[in-house]
Amino acid sequence: MKVFADTSNVDEIKRLNDLSLIQGVTTNPTLMMKEINEQKKTKQPGDVSHWHEIVVQICEAICKPVSAEVTSTEVGEMVEEGKLLSELNEHVVVKLPCTPDGIHACRVLTQFMDIKVNMTLCFSVAQAVLASNAGAEYISPFVGRMDDYSAGSGVKLVKDIQNAYLNDLSGSRAPKILAASIRNVEHFNQVAEYADVATCPPKVIWDIFNHKLTLSGLEQFNNDWKKTNE
Ligand code: E4P
Repeated sequence: MKVFADTSNVDEIKRLNDLSLIQGVTTNPTLMMKEINEQKKTKQPGDVSHWHEIVVQICEAICKPVSAEVTSTEVGEMVEEGKLLSELNEHVVVKLPCTPDGIHACRVLTQFMDIKVNMTLCFSVAQAVLASNAGAEYISPFVGRMDDYSAGSGVKLVKDIQNAYLNDLSGSRAPKILAASIRNVEHFNQVAEYADVATCPPKVIWDIFNHKLTLSGLEQFNNDWKKTNE
């Protein structure tokens, strides 16, 4: 399973990428808003980046897939915005919501413009099937939010989507399953069996190293080594 960073913070992305911990990035309007508000605290108004600039900075920093989400909701506007986003950098993957307009825009962008699409806000197998038929490159089931709203098990949704894609006889090329809204390492462990990608907040990625047996084992090895007086 590949690991993407779910953040718009360029410094954090560079840090994770420099350590070879990530193979891509996902952003969304909320994450962009947070990053812009952070920049407003330390920069002059003229130096705060437009969100398109942040997308370009991330793409140039990692040269790997970067999902950038449209903010429009009507199909024609989504297609125009998706085209514009894809022209920012070759690594941009256009993120569209699982709505009728989003599915239609996905079809137009993938079939006629050869633009890669990540269908986001997926909460059912049915939405994942429609995204597959529309030619999406990625489908993003939201694991944590399913759990937050007691809408069923998020991990089971990922498993069910994988099952549906594996058993699909329609001839559609299945999207990669990008498990999103990952809240903790346990989610990561569980979706690893079914997903192609997990996109995680940086904290979850760092938490992977916080295994008490790794930490205590290392301490013991280091202490024993010191006793050799080598
Ligand atoms: C996915 O691409 C989204 O950006 C993200 O995973 C949403 O997660 P949240 O539910 O923590 O906002």
